[in-house]
Amino acid sequence: MNLTIRPIEVSDAENMITYLNQIAGESENLTFGLGEFAITLEKEISYLESLQGNGNQMMVVATVDDEIVGNISYNGGHRLRTRHVGEFGISVRKDYWGKGIGKALLQNLIDWAKASPYCEKINLRVRDDNIRAIGLYRKLGFQVEGLIKRDMKINGEFVDCLFMGLKIEK
Ligand SMILES: CC(C)(COP(=O)(O)OP(=O)(O)OC[C@H]1O[C@@H](n2cnc3c(N)ncnc32)[C@H](O)[C@@H]1OP(=O)(O)O)[C@@H](O)C(=O)NCCC(=O)NCCS
Repeated sequence: MNLTIRPIEVSDAENMITYLNQIAGESENLTFGLGEFAITLEKEISYLESLQGNGNQMMVVATVDDEIVGNISYNGGHRLRTRHVGEFGISVRKDYWGKGIGKALLQNLIDWAKASPYCEKINLRVRDDNIRAIGLYRKLGFQVEGLIKRDMKINGEFVDCLFMGLKIEK
């Protein structure tokens, strides 16, 4: 597998939209479902442009033969009291699950956080029945800090989420 993990570029905008539309329909674990990620190419380009030069945000993609097969993005706080912490989202295309790509993406975020002048803690929220993702987070040192009741509503059903965090040792 010709796997590359690299920061996203503005020129990835079109491929990113295709990727997001695909993963939206592959699991019920994300904050958006099939057909819900409606974003124009123009908006995606300006979003990716806004990431460039923003020191407290990162987005990295995993590619195989120039196709996006995974993604991680982190948003840190903007104010003095919140910039030390942020939340991330991660996904891998289903045909590439179980090949270590999620782990490589999350390790990339942790390495980035260690080098960041701001980040001292990484948070996340995950469905409490998303065993695969919880397994990955625990493996890389994240600890459960709480349970958020009715955090999502998917197909009319409330879903509880775990709140997890990782302290970044510098
Ligand atoms: C969660 C997700 C990102 C994991 O990516 P992945 O590339 O399949 O994960 P990896 O192959 O790197 O596996 C890493 C670790 O996850 C855990 N894991 C993977 N599959 C698992 C399973 N079926 N059960 C339990 N743990 C599992 C293991 O600890 C594994 O490490 P190991 O292989 O050394 O034992 C991916 O499955 C995905 O995109 N799911 C849909 C979207 C999603 O749930 N996103 C997270 C929302 S919070």
